[in-house]
Amino acid sequence: MKAALIMGASGDIGKGIAEELAASGWSLYLHYHTDYQSVERQLQTYRAAYPQQDFFGLHLDMTVEAGIPEFIRNIFQLDAIIFSSGFTTFQLLTEVTSETMDKMWAVHVKTPVLLIQKLQSKLAHSPNGRIVFISSIYGETGSSMEVFYSTTKGAQLAFVKAYSKEVASLGITVNAISPGAIETKMNGAFTELELTGLKEEIPVRRMGTISEISFWVHQLLESRSAYLTGQSIIVSGGWLK
Ligand SMILES: NC(=O)c1ccc[n+]([C@@H]2O[C@H](COP(=O)([O-])OP(=O)(O)OC[C@H]3O[C@@H](n4cnc5c(N)ncnc54)[C@H](OP(=O)(O)O)[C@@H]3O)[C@@H](O)[C@H]2O)c1
Repeated sequence: MKAALIMGASGDIGKGIAEELAASGWSLYLHYHTDYQSVERQLQTYRAAYPQQDFFGLHLDMTVEAGIPEFIRNIFQLDAIIFSSGFTTFQLLTEVTSETMDKMWAVHVKTPVLLIQKLQSKLAHSPNGRIVFISSIYGETGSSMEVFYSTTKGAQLAFVKAYSKEVASLGITVNAISPGAIETKMNGAFTELELTGLKEEIPVRRMGTISEISFWVHQLLESRSAYLTGQSIIVSGGWLK
């Protein structure tokens, strides 16, 4: 049976990915940080709906490196890792503290890389090892007020390009999805006026849905995606492209 680890499964996009993969036969390790209830609800739903598959909840604060060994100990067979964990702050760069930079770097870049180092051998045993980062359109284009967030998202894309070359011979593909503005709580702070202005900037004139992101993650996990690696798929309704 295929097994995937979803980092940030408690979040909006991570949960959408989990729902789609569970419905198509995957066993799942569902990671959370503070929102245990989101994962607990998902575990109950999936175990009832898909009794032949395995579902586990796993906790890790990705800013605390000391938690990684225990986290890894709870992972057995693994075919795919999806990084949907992340956070942003809306600030001028001159206002971003060193502590915020350390946390943002740890959650988006350093901890994913440390986890991949430890889990590479498990992915190499899979006939279709897969790594997918949920990066951001801002990693491609950059954004004011989210300069350091854009920096970490761009670093994810650089990692994808380099590491995909290193593990291609092991049968592992490494890709990113770069979403534009998606209907999630991450965009909940916008006023109606700001949302109207944002939608006018997007060529398809609306925000994306979570399922329009999980769809592409699912495609990347298919065996026929084996020839696609080191790429970022931009899913932004044409925005900022
Ligand atoms: N929403 C968008 O429009 C959009 C656009 C482009 C890119 N993205 C990217 O897509 C990914 C998912 O976004 P989302 O909208 O689903 O956000 P979300 O609902 O806020 O979910 C964020 C996830 O990250 C986890 N997380 C945050 N800080 C953490 C930490 N210190 N340690 C471990 N986990 C931590 C959260 O865990 P808990 O909730 O359990 O604390 C949650 O599972 C992010 O990387 C985001 O940057 C989103």
